[in-house]
Amino acid sequence: VSQKNHYRPNFHFAPSDGWVNDPNGLFYLDGVWHLYFQYYPHAPEHGPMHWGHATSRDLVHWEEQPIALFPDASRSIFSGSIVVDAQNTAGFGAAEAERAEGAVPPVVAIYTAHDAAKAKSGGDAALAAETQAIAYSLDGGTRWTHYEANPVLPNPGLRDFRDPKVSWDAERGRWLMVIAAGDCVHFYTSPNLKDWAFLSEFGAQIGAHGGVWECPDFFSMKVEKVHGEPPPPDAEEKWVLLVSLNPGGPNGGSATQYFVGDFDGTKFTPDKQFTAPPNHKKNAAKQIVGKPLNNPTVLETICSPYAWLDWGRDNYASVLFNNVPDGRRVMIGWMSNWDYAKKLPTSAEGWLGQMTLPRQLILAKTSVSGYVIKSHLPSEFGGDLDPTRKIRRSGTLKANGPLAQVGIAPITTLIESGEIDLTRAIMRIKIRQMSPMGSYRLVFCNEQGERLEILQHNAVPGTPVIVNRHSAGEGDFSQNFAGPVIAAPIVPVEEQGLCCSETNFMIILDKTSAEIFCNGGERAITVLFFPNWPYTTLLYSSDVAGSSYAIEVEEIAL
Ligand code: FRU
Repeated sequence: VSQKNHYRPNFHFAPSDGWVNDPNGLFYLDGVWHLYFQYYPHAPEHGPMHWGHATSRDLVHWEEQPIALFPDASRSIFSGSIVVDAQNTAGFGAAEAERAEGAVPPVVAIYTAHDAAKAKSGGDAALAAETQAIAYSLDGGTRWTHYEANPVLPNPGLRDFRDPKVSWDAERGRWLMVIAAGDCVHFYTSPNLKDWAFLSEFGAQIGAHGGVWECPDFFSMKVEKVHGEPPPPDAEEKWVLLVSLNPGGPNGGSATQYFVGDFDGTKFTPDKQFTAPPNHKKNAAKQIVGKPLNNPTVLETICSPYAWLDWGRDNYASVLFNNVPDGRRVMIGWMSNWDYAKKLPTSAEGWLGQMTLPRQLILAKTSVSGYVIKSHLPSEFGGDLDPTRKIRRSGTLKANGPLAQVGIAPITTLIESGEIDLTRAIMRIKIRQMSPMGSYRLVFCNEQGERLEILQHNAVPGTPVIVNRHSAGEGDFSQNFAGPVIAAPIVPVEEQGLCCSETNFMIILDKTSAEIFCNGGERAITVLFFPNWPYTTLLYSSDVAGSSYAIEVEEIAL
């Protein structure tokens, strides 16, 4: 492996050179998925921001494209979105009816122009540092022209006013913008992407506020009726607001929360479940956990009263693709955390930053959790995989061993070195504990002893899944990286017809990341790690006899 690629992911998007953060301007058009991103091409650091660009035909393989938007002498191009202006509302292209056969519709980017000097200056100038501007492309997203009359939305006097997400409000036949505005979001509307009218504000008193709000997204979703099946046309429809915040995430630093509610064209009203006062929920959570957990930080975390799109440390600024034809809600996040993003060891290879896999969001309503957003792997990743790249096995642990300080006996090897490539694997693991007080642990490791652990103590409903990357590999680059453990509460699974001591996982492993979806995607936990040697082995252990596992692993075809 060349030095440049030691940590380069096998199947997650990362730049060949330079720095990457938030995904921007995600859209789909004519068979191509477009991913733009916060980009500094000259060094692996957060310099004056450009919008880089990559495209994919299958959501799996990405190809880097020429840089789309460049900063000027005073302004960076911060995060934003792209819409397909099929009706030519902005007038940059030809209207659909007049467009030549096969010609592409105009696409319009709406981004934050960020004046770093003003932002740093403090005082009144800082209140005008962020304005919203547009640019358009007439070739489907490769070459871009800035609109000559920018900004289209001046700053209303806020230090933080950025990351506009625009989408077409089909019901009302107009554009809808949600934008982060300090500790809340603002909604705006426009007929033409150039003139924007304020609609309302949301969130100042609701939700998590440990840090500044950033990168919102706002969209409607039909509620799933039957688990695993697309919602029928008559299914209930709700609106979902995603808001990233930094810091203040459930396990520290950056994370994305969500709200489910209703939108009347002006105002977003979250469902009661999302406005419950924190203490009420906290007590309820404590009761569910039942047995005292000896780790106060973990308890604090899993009692978080907020709805988190991902409980891991490494999924931030997640937003959805616009213009997806089949109405699927497909999202990508930046797989990092501002707590340590600038220090990741990949900078020695000249690149820094990578994206999560695309995820399909499903909105479900359960009697236990109420409205809940589930994360699924899009169908593009599954299907007709080569059976020779697949292993399937199951078993029961027979012996019973004491819970040792470090490990739990007995140990079973689920995957052995050489059997399957654990740097490009999708696995489904089902764990059933015969005693609800049983603990189990899944350990990905290499012969050098580096290990990533996923564990649950007392696998009863409500106890958290814990991910421990403390000894996963390099961690010295930032104090904030390796510990403490990452915890996510597990929802009671009766809803899914599972017995109470069963937890199921889908885990997608790349060289330096695990995306862990628990119990049908109700909990997502995304974590980075930096082993010096690839993981080759998966171990399973439990302290209860009769603890059983079923595992299915496939290598992702690259
Ligand atoms: C989120 C963020 C955005 C901003 C961009 C700058 O990670 O801080 O709010 O637009 O990154 O790169």
